[in-house]
Amino acid sequence: MHTTVGIIGGGPSGLLLARLLHDAGIDSVVLESRDRAYVEQRQRAGILEQATVDALRAAGAGARLDAEGMAHDGIELRFDGRAHRVDFPSLTDGRRVWVYAQTEVVKDLIALQLADGGPLLFGAQVRSVEGVDTDRPAIHYTHEGREQILTCDYVVGCDGFHGVARTAVPERERTTYERTYPYSWLGILAEAPPVYEELVYAHSERGFALASMRSPAVSRLYLQVPNGTDPADWPEDRIWDELDARLALGDTPEWRLRRGPITQKSVLPMRSSVTEPMRYGRLFLAGDAAHIVPPTGAKGLNLAAADVIVLARAFARRAATGSTELLDGYSAACLRRVWRAEHFSYAMTTTLHRDPAQSGFDTRLQLAQLDRIASSPHAAAELAQNYVGLPIEEVTEADGVPEAAEADEVAVRRAEA
Ligand code: APR
Ligand code: PHB
Repeated sequence: MHTTVGIIGGGPSGLLLARLLHDAGIDSVVLESRDRAYVEQRQRAGILEQATVDALRAAGAGARLDAEGMAHDGIELRFDGRAHRVDFPSLTDGRRVWVYAQTEVVKDLIALQLADGGPLLFGAQVRSVEGVDTDRPAIHYTHEGREQILTCDYVVGCDGFHGVARTAVPERERTTYERTYPYSWLGILAEAPPVYEELVYAHSERGFALASMRSPAVSRLYLQVPNGTDPADWPEDRIWDELDARLALGDTPEWRLRRGPITQKSVLPMRSSVTEPMRYGRLFLAGDAAHIVPPTGAKGLNLAAADVIVLARAFARRAATGSTELLDGYSAACLRRVWRAEHFSYAMTTTLHRDPAQSGFDTRLQLAQLDRIASSPHAAAELAQNYVGLPIEEVTEADGVPEAAEADEVAVRRAEA
């Protein structure tokens, strides 16, 4: 089998890339090691930035998102027994976010791809990628018990943090920058109405808590727990009691969440990681294959979407004009956004969590930072702008990679100067 773009991994980045390429008339094949049910049920985050929503709509995957997704215009921070709301539209030129679970994004994209896209193979385990520094790379994979080879013009590794694509870049050519955190999240899904109409991020002496949602009847809640925590040590009552304690406000200390059956419970490690460069020869890395953020800033899915939006444009430019200029600029254009999101995710994480080695001094610094956000529109705007995300053009253009339509204008302006 041969295709123009061989995509390893059918998570959000691989699936969205396949759609964007399909819409640009570029053929691709997606190889996903797991089965469809597994991929559709894997619980992940649920906040979509405007740019991600725009891309999903443009790709034809916006119908259910528009019907069932919940637009949010702010978040609430709780700390020191008080609550402060950060309003997004007034601090960001009218931008907002959507609550729509990654599981649903994945279901929508799979349905579209199977209906009218290129091949999407489940149970296709990629073993290795060869010849990425030649003009005919090959993906070796196993499908239905048989060894197969997919030759491609280009390979995109969308195979997540534990994928194989990254290892096709020679070790001497790649660097991974990493940080682990001394805590994890215990995440639950509960058949209980959300705590509040917006997300609540709580700093507390007992550790961080986050109250999110999946629908008006289903809550998604998280508690900071020590690394190595066994979810079995957290029976339902213990989870609810701890959420009550961490989310309590000073004037309503007896306040309690509405409880309901917990239908899913798991522990997530917290990690930051970036592999540079995101391109080697004819291999491109996108999404979690290239970078991981701790979930506190809700950036993981949005960074993955931004990568493949930039990459699909670059492939479209090459198909239309033969120019590889945007493909050549892909890594630099993405890494700029990635590092900004890494910094934001790190800052949100370390400001809101309680490090087991934390001193009273460290806690006072966290509270001073949260108080600054609550009292300074500048500090609040910094948070809001990072949370809702930058328009993708802002980052790529600043990098000297102008949009196709503007490239001519730039040339004219240069000629006139
Ligand atoms: N062969 C084929 N498929 C593979 C292989 C392999 N060797 N290794 C991994 N995969 C598949 C995984 O089964 C998974 O479905 O690649 C996919 C990678 O998907 P994700 O991990 O969801 O990564 P990505 O699509 O980049 O999405 C990033 O996911 O982890 C969250 O917070 C993150 O929301 C962000 C999003
Ligand atoms: C979620 O709803 O799963 C969620 C929301 C916000 C975050 C992380 C996770 O920061």
